[in-house]
Amino acid sequence: MAVFNLTINKEDYKVDVDPQMPLLWVIRDFAGLTGTKYGCGIAQCGACTVHLDGTAVRSCSIPVSSIGTQKVVTIEGLSEKGDHPLQLAWEETDVPQCGYCQAGQIMNAASFLKDKPHPTDAEIDNMMSGNICRCGTYNRIKKAIQLAAKGGDHE
Ligand code: FES
Ligand code: FES
Repeated sequence: MAVFNLTINKEDYKVDVDPQMPLLWVIRDFAGLTGTKYGCGIAQCGACTVHLDGTAVRSCSIPVSSIGTQKVVTIEGLSEKGDHPLQLAWEETDVPQCGYCQAGQIMNAASFLKDKPHPTDAEIDNMMSGNICRCGTYNRIKKAIQLAAKGGDHE
């Protein structure tokens, strides 16, 4: 066991855990932030995606000991009131079905849009291809990302 000081969604947490514990466990079980989901546990599905200093990462496969001073942001911290352009576009487009993969989808898209604010459909397909949705909401995900990229212009 070892003590780690983490900043998650601008809040400080001190945890005393196995250094190999995946960040996802710390987020869910110690910080109590359950919006981030466990899917495969082996970096293959994207359900556990969070941001580390703004970059999308798979928290199931990152040991807590490797976080250091990097800031963690989860779906709960993406915006103050759930009003990030992607969250609004998701709602407008009625994207989720069961919802399980959706936090990971939005967190991946949010990181990607920062680097590529006006992506083509092909770029969206490419960037989102590692985030699996068992319910097959891919077309609506793409539509919502395009909507958010247009700044909520719904025409
Ligand atoms: S749970 Fe992390 S990638 Fe699937
Ligand atoms: S909405 Fe059900 S897995 Fe994506």
